[in-house]
Amino acid sequence: LIRKARHPFAAADLQAANKAWWTQQPMQYDWHGTNAAAEGTYEFYAEVDRRFFGASPFYAGDRPFAELIPYHKLAHERVLEIGCGQGSHTQLLAQTGADVTAIDITARAVALTKRRLALANLLADVREMDAERMEFRDGEFGFVWSWGVIHHSAHTDRIVREVARVLKPGGEFRFMVYNRRALDSYVKLLRGALTGKSLRGMSGDDILSFYTDGYLARFFTRSSLTKLITDNGLVVRAISVLGQKSELLPLPGTGVIGRLKYGLLSRIPDAFAKGMLSATGSFLFASAQRPVRPNAEEAG
Ligand SMILES: C[S@@+](CC[C@H](N)C(=O)[O-])C[C@H]1O[C@@H](n2cnc3c(N)ncnc32)[C@H](O)[C@@H]1O
Repeated sequence: LIRKARHPFAAADLQAANKAWWTQQPMQYDWHGTNAAAEGTYEFYAEVDRRFFGASPFYAGDRPFAELIPYHKLAHERVLEIGCGQGSHTQLLAQTGADVTAIDITARAVALTKRRLALANLLADVREMDAERMEFRDGEFGFVWSWGVIHHSAHTDRIVREVARVLKPGGEFRFMVYNRRALDSYVKLLRGALTGKSLRGMSGDDILSFYTDGYLARFFTRSSLTKLITDNGLVVRAISVLGQKSELLPLPGTGVIGRLKYGLLSRIPDAFAKGMLSATGSFLFASAQRPVRPNAEEAG
């Protein structure tokens, strides 16, 4: 396993480190090694999705992520997913009848997503590709989706610029990145201070990355996210805060404390959790659009 670096942003080849991390430790929603099913089996994907989709009241609906993915608009649309991981969202997108392309920087994620789709008898074009340098033509896609990906890439801004290029005019990019103003972020910063990381020269960015999955992770405020979007060719449609229920009790997830934590969490009503998380949650969810005419915003 790759060790967490004290100063991850100083790595000589950030993108190689990012890729190596996700190759060795793919996001399988299994931090404690409790998914008994073998990787790539039907049971494995079912358990990944059960954990992922059950983690937040924001993911509920008549199908998972119905509040966040505009399923009704996607049939016959060309849809791109960036950073498909284990293919949970690729499957949801492919089930709409959309023409789906999914990319990931690791060969392992691509293989696992292809396997999942084959098991579900669904079609999508799944390719190994770095989203900072996409091999698509300008204006190919009507909708781009990316969940928890672009903040891990060496140059997040390059991905947004690429999305602005491959989206057709008027097309939408919906994506999630980490929220710097989250309760969970303050807990991480406090933990870093209490364990002497600040004294040892680690910055706030270093500490947030240290306690987060991925070789590196960037955290955004509403204003830095707005700047990321507008500096790279898109306009902001909406930004909201969301999060997962477990964030409401920032305690370890294993052992006696873990059992107590999950016992208490199960008693918190979803509606209440949702209200709290829409203020304190660790995700910023953005909808951005490629302007219909270049410089349309400036021109008013
Ligand atoms: C935290 S995982 C999220 C996976 C999936 N979206 C999910 O929500 O389960 C991040 C994924 O992004 C991929 N990734 C990171 N940087 C990338 C890049 N520049 N281009 C494409 N994929 C990337 C990683 O390989 C990994 O599979």
